[in-house]
Amino acid sequence: MEDIVVRRIDINDTIYQQVYDLREAILRQPIGLSLKDEDLSADALNTIFIAEHQGKVIGCVMLYPIADDEKIKLRQMAVYEEWQGKGIGKKLVDAAEQYAKEIGYSSIILHARTLAEGFYKNLGYYTTSSEFTEVGIPHIVMEKDIF
Ligand SMILES: CC(C)(COP(=O)(O)OP(=O)(O)OC[C@H]1O[C@@H](n2cnc3c(N)ncnc32)[C@H](O)[C@@H]1OP(=O)(O)O)[C@@H](O)C(=O)NCCC(=O)NCCS
Repeated sequence: MEDIVVRRIDINDTIYQQVYDLREAILRQPIGLSLKDEDLSADALNTIFIAEHQGKVIGCVMLYPIADDEKIKLRQMAVYEEWQGKGIGKKLVDAAEQYAKEIGYSSIILHARTLAEGFYKNLGYYTTSSEFTEVGIPHIVMEKDIF
């Protein structure tokens, strides 16, 4: 696992296409949707974190500013199937939390797929909503204080 690097990029980085491909493969294709049908213009406002193995993006997560000075939103958390369960998701969330703290936020909010609730709980997130539907599947709001 030493050869996995977690780093921050922005949308202009040449490696961003691989992030798009990962999101499409892990977060959209399995539920019968495509990023091609979405307005991604707000992506430019995201801070993107990638896990990289030998030049290939194997995991990603993004931080998206919302209309709140205290909270920032974590979104688009994905790890390729063959890399899941190896601590990469945790490394990515840790990096995003550290950065959010550095830039002055005190809390992270996210819309978790209910299937991923245990993953976030494990990382200290607590559930703050009842179930709702997003991209056609059940979600809940989760939050974590990071100060
Ligand atoms: C959910 C996801 C991002 C987790 O990433 P990962 O790299 O596999 O997770 P990690 O290996 O870092 O797991 C960290 C811990 O959470 C646990 N965990 C991981 N996925 C879990 C899940 N779905 N439910 C409960 N616990 C989970 C792991 O067992 C591990 O526990 P441990 O520290 O006690 O060993 C990844 O499985 C994924 O991309 N899934 C498909 C897309 C998805 O659902 N994204 C989230 C959208 S909200």
